[in-house]
Amino acid sequence: MSILRGARILLGITGGVAAHKSVDLASKLVQQGATVDVVLTDAARNFLGPAGLQAITRRPVYGSVFEPWTADFAGHITLGEESDLLIVAPATVNVVAELALGLAPDMLTTAALASTAPLLIAPAMEDTMFRHPAMQQNLETLRARGAMVVGPESGRLASGEQGIGRMSEPATIVGAARKILGRNGILQGRRIVVTAGGTREALDPVRYLGNRSTGLMGYAIAQSAIDAGAAVTLVSGPTSLDTPYGAERIDVQTAVEMKEAVTEAVNGADVIIMSAAVADYRPNAVRSEKIKKSELGATLSLDLVTNPDIIASIGHDGLIKIGFAAETSNLVEHAQRKLREKGLHLVVANNAEQAIGSRDNQVTLVWPNGDVDQLPLMPKSDVAELVIERVGTLLAG
Ligand code: C5P
Repeated sequence: MSILRGARILLGITGGVAAHKSVDLASKLVQQGATVDVVLTDAARNFLGPAGLQAITRRPVYGSVFEPWTADFAGHITLGEESDLLIVAPATVNVVAELALGLAPDMLTTAALASTAPLLIAPAMEDTMFRHPAMQQNLETLRARGAMVVGPESGRLASGEQGIGRMSEPATIVGAARKILGRNGILQGRRIVVTAGGTREALDPVRYLGNRSTGLMGYAIAQSAIDAGAAVTLVSGPTSLDTPYGAERIDVQTAVEMKEAVTEAVNGADVIIMSAAVADYRPNAVRSEKIKKSELGATLSLDLVTNPDIIASIGHDGLIKIGFAAETSNLVEHAQRKLREKGLHLVVANNAEQAIGSRDNQVTLVWPNGDVDQLPLMPKSDVAELVIERVGTLLAG
């Protein structure tokens, strides 16, 4: 689930070659539960027709201010008033100037003036136009008024040249939308450190001891914390997952590196959620040369030493510590022991075999007062949302 569920979004698409990416953007917003009203400017209609957008959003696509007014639709006024967020993507140099000046020559700019919703702008244009002082000044004006500007990114532009001016990817714009919509959430003003993924303990220059953690659970928690308005530091083991928009990500490999990163990150933080699968042991010494089978014979014994327990070793007054327990048996019993031994405020216990690598998770929340909440199997994004709700309650209490 996502904070976009039930949100009303006004998506303004203006006349740039990146307009085709906004079809995917509309689709992603709708998939996450938003109601999306699209305004397609005249210039955008040179690049894109309304039919596909209408089918994706299941809503009319707007164009002119003078479209027929019905009993419950007062044109630009309704559109502007009813939206929770206004996204302009792609935003041309022209629309940025109009928005900055408060001009209202068409449906989009008129609706923008009739709206008190936050504004998210994804500029797309040639490098020279983007760098033009007029454009930069207009963006600055909009920022000063509270607008969020996402991108543009560097890469190949319409001219074929490399430069800055590509519209951000739809997934990034969706992430930025989530961050804006979440800004007044239950974790507003809070700093949360989340760890995710597994560690890799090097044996030699090419091999490591690791585990099958994908990082999905921790990344979902980081995203939910951003949806709730928190400032998030994500300390991550190796993974192929995209960083949630707005999270500060610190990449680590080993348990010792993770400990250093977490110890630093929890300074001034309100909560640590330790969902990473940290290796309990690491090789006593990392070989500088690749281990050769020819030198070893039929068996290989590894000399291992224990890793520091990260969550048990950190803390300051008021820091809420939440751990995970991935078990294959006696889930609650093991979780209760971890709760005590590591001094935690909550343990999220799950079945290791079921949870690792899966999109869904069935977790049991184990509390210091002896309460045990067994939650049903659900997507990890929903588990994350519930955990973050509980974090909000812990902080409030
Ligand atoms: O590995 P174990 O089952 O004890 O993990 C329980 C909790 O402790 C998890 O939240 C895990 O991230 C954390 N942990 C840690 N440092 C370790 C091992 C585990 O912080 N070395």
